[in-house]
Amino acid sequence: MSTISKKIDVKQIGQPDNSSMNRKVMTVPNFRDRKGGKPLVCLTAYTAHVAHLVDAEADMILVGDSLGMVIHGMPNTLSVTIEHMIMHGQAVVRGAKKALVIVDMPFGSYEESPEVAFRNASRIIKETGCTAVKLEGGKEMAKTIHHLAARGIPVMAHVGLMPQQMNTAGGFKAVQDQESWDDVISDAKSVEAAGAFSVVIEGVAEELAQKITKNIKIPTIGIGASAHCDGQILVFEDMIGLFPRVPTFVKRYGNMEEMMIDAIQKYSAEVRDRSFPAIEHTYRPKKV
Ligand code: KIV
Repeated sequence: MSTISKKIDVKQIGQPDNSSMNRKVMTVPNFRDRKGGKPLVCLTAYTAHVAHLVDAEADMILVGDSLGMVIHGMPNTLSVTIEHMIMHGQAVVRGAKKALVIVDMPFGSYEESPEVAFRNASRIIKETGCTAVKLEGGKEMAKTIHHLAARGIPVMAHVGLMPQQMNTAGGFKAVQDQESWDDVISDAKSVEAAGAFSVVIEGVAEELAQKITKNIKIPTIGIGASAHCDGQILVFEDMIGLFPRVPTFVKRYGNMEEMMIDAIQKYSAEVRDRSFPAIEHTYRPKKV
C-alpha cells in the first residue's frame, strides 16, 4: 500500500511551529508499519488547542469517548452520542496537523449491524475530517471491522477492559484473572484477521499484553497494559493531573488542578480588592 505523506501547513492555531514544518503527516500505513519499532506515542484530546499542543509530540490523537466523563461530567461513557464525538472531533482535527486523528464510536452507534456501523462511521469521518475510527470489541465485532475496513474506513479495535461493557462486567474491571486470558488473545487475533490496523489493549496483566503483542502483526497500544505494547495511550486530563481519579495505570506528569485552583483564587482576590483590572488592562481614550 502506498504511503502518501504531505508536508504540513503553517499552524492555524497558536504560533506558527517551524520545528514541525518538515515533519510527515502520520498515515494509517505508517502507523501500522511501526509494529515492533519505535514506541507509538498516543494521547487523547477533545479541544483544538490541546490537540495543537499534543500534536507537537504525538503520533496519534484519540478523540476518546472518555470525553463524556472528563469533559461532560458523566459517570461513564454510555451516554456519549455521535453528536458529542463529531463536535469534539471537529475541534481536534482543526488543532492537529501531523498526528493521526482517530475518533471513538460511542456506545450504541456500531453494535447493531455492520451497515449501521458504516453509516455512523462514515458520518464521523465526513463531518470531522478524522482518518480512522476506534470501536470496542473482539470477535463479536470482527464482521463489522471487516465491513468498515473493506469500504475505506480504517479501524482501531479495543480489547481487554472495555469501558462500554461496564454494566455487563459490573464496573471497570482489569483483566488479571488468567482464566479469561485466552479469550482476550483470541479477541486480538480476530480483530487483526478482520482488518483492524491497530488495537488498544486496556487494563490487562503484563504477561497477557506481552503475549498479544508478540502474537499479532498489528501495533498494540496499551493503557494499563504494561511497557510491552507497541505504543502507549493515556487520557490527557489524567496525565496532566486535571481529573480526580487516578487509576493504577495513570502516571501524572503535571498538576494542572493545583495551578488552576491557584489562578482562580488569585483572580478572585484581585477582583475583590480591585487590583484587577490594573491600568495596563484598561482601555484609554484614543488620542486624536
Ligand atoms: O475513550 C478513551 O479515551 C479511550 C482510551 C482510554 C483508550 O478509549
